Amino acid sequence: MCGIVGYIGQKEKKEILLDGLQELEYRGYDSAGIAVIENKHLKNFKAVGRLQNLRDKTDSYTSSGFGVSIGHTRWATHGKPTELNAHPHRGEYSFVVHNGIIENYQELKTELQKEGVKFLSQTDTETIVHLFEKNYNATSNAWESFSKTIEKLEGAYATLLITEAEAETIFFAKNGSPMLIGFNGDDVYFASSDTPIIGKATEVYYLEDGEYGYTKDGKVMLFNADGEKSFTKQTLATDKAMAQKDGYRFFMEKEIYEQTQVMNDTMMGRVLESKIDFEELDANLLENISNIKICACGTSYHSALTGSYLLERIAKIPCQVEIASEFRYKEPLLRDDTLFITISQSGETADTLEALKMANRAGLKSLSICNVDNSSIVRESDAAILTRAGIEKGVASTKAFATQTMVLWMLTLYVAQVKKTITPELLKEELDAMRHTPKALLVTDKLHTKLNRLSKRYLHGHGFFFIGRDLFFPLALEGALKLKEISYLHAEGYPSGEMKHGPIALADSELFTVALMPKSLHYEKIKSNVEELSARDATILAISPEPFELADDFIQTIYGTHPMLEFFEMMVVTQILALEISIRLGNDVDMPRNLAKSVTVE
Ligand code: G6P
Repeated sequence: MCGIVGYIGQKEKKEILLDGLQELEYRGYDSAGIAVIENKHLKNFKAVGRLQNLRDKTDSYTSSGFGVSIGHTRWATHGKPTELNAHPHRGEYSFVVHNGIIENYQELKTELQKEGVKFLSQTDTETIVHLFEKNYNATSNAWESFSKTIEKLEGAYATLLITEAEAETIFFAKNGSPMLIGFNGDDVYFASSDTPIIGKATEVYYLEDGEYGYTKDGKVMLFNADGEKSFTKQTLATDKAMAQKDGYRFFMEKEIYEQTQVMNDTMMGRVLESKIDFEELDANLLENISNIKICACGTSYHSALTGSYLLERIAKIPCQVEIASEFRYKEPLLRDDTLFITISQSGETADTLEALKMANRAGLKSLSICNVDNSSIVRESDAAILTRAGIEKGVASTKAFATQTMVLWMLTLYVAQVKKTITPELLKEELDAMRHTPKALLVTDKLHTKLNRLSKRYLHGHGFFFIGRDLFFPLALEGALKLKEISYLHAEGYPSGEMKHGPIALADSELFTVALMPKSLHYEKIKSNVEELSARDATILAISPEPFELADDFIQTIYGTHPMLEFFEMMVVTQILALEISIRLGNDVDMPRNLAKSVTVE
């Protein structure tokens, strides 16, 4: 996720910005930049890659005396990770940094281009600075121009703007993306999270959505839709490690809670009123395509399996899924009417990359679904859809899986639109459900407390079976993988209808069965499968919107109307169950033994 820092005051600005950006490195980025105005002169540096590259570029520069300054680390969403696309973005005499996505940027950009404005980057952010300067050129009033600019923006933003037209002021606005203001005497700091200002500022104010304003002469003027606003500062925390995890015990926990927010980013600009739009896909991608093959590893393989159910059922296109390490050596028969999709969080998994190269050599069209722009897999593919999950630090993947699955659901509707295999009524139903997903991903205190209490009964035994049918079979596989990755307990995912063909022999009270029992998909069928296990004394943890009297433990879910909403809600339950069991066992949740986040060897 992108990071922002800002500072206004007498201190040396370059070091404040670079140190601040360094504190945000853990969030992931692919380029960085700073802009400083001192004595009415603008200085600007940008570099692709590590922050050290920016340090090298700014080596001979130091600021002196009073000035305003902004800095940014970028995680590409609109446009490649190049120097031109790195922030701060410039106009004629102003600079802007921005986190989030301006949903109506295309419309604003076209309007500005018609008026002769030249854009240097492919980003949505650049529209902010040009819009500001257009307003300023007409009014010569910087504050009025900034507030008018903010009024025009739709979507999520946290933004800082500095301008030679009013060189002693920083303008700021926040809506949907985090931003805070730090204070220490006359020094004022800005940042997208606590860490860059810990040790520098003593007090802090966390901006709320819809707030904007400016800072000048050590004072901050704050406004919202109702006009000027007073605000109360609070004491700033001092523990950086805690601040990086936003107060959660582990990155994995933070990432589970983040899913509701990142899903909005994944959908933004893509889930439209009555259709799915992927700006990044060429209209002819699906030309002559009558078949889809998906290759991936680990968790990404499980999202692929989920996608295959959706693609066949809704888009009516045949879809096969293969584990990349198997695919490579099976001498697969590849046909050029097949779209070859790879899924990877990191974009660097060696087995997946090699599978993709094989498909490319065979002349297939390729599409990757990936969380990291400019990664090897993205570069090797004809087209790419970024999942926009932000960096994932926990080795056990959570939000990456959620966003991959969402992209596959969106892709399903996109294919169905292009191939005209979906009725407008069904498309509308799917889009309506999709828009509810962030809610289905919310973790309530009640749920977390219940899972925490219940987890103590699942620390022994001779293993777990996660069972489900249809879409919930890949979720069962993923639930079992999460548990084994971080608890080191044996867990298997199984199609519930298959238990009677062998594994039921293991059933006794020490066999823990986590049953995914959605109401909207084959409820009666899975119920009978679970009853068979219960009759053999297996311990049942049932997850369902329907009360189930044979369950030893029961988690009641809310969404019983759409399989995908049930899917995401149950996914969160399995993630927190694994987390709580692992914590009780005293394991390192974020760095499980023997595992690596990205496996770049065969
Ligand atoms: C490793 C990780 C897994 C991950 C898999 C695929 O095994 O430990 O968590 O699912 O690689 O990674 P990718 O980056 O390709 O999604």
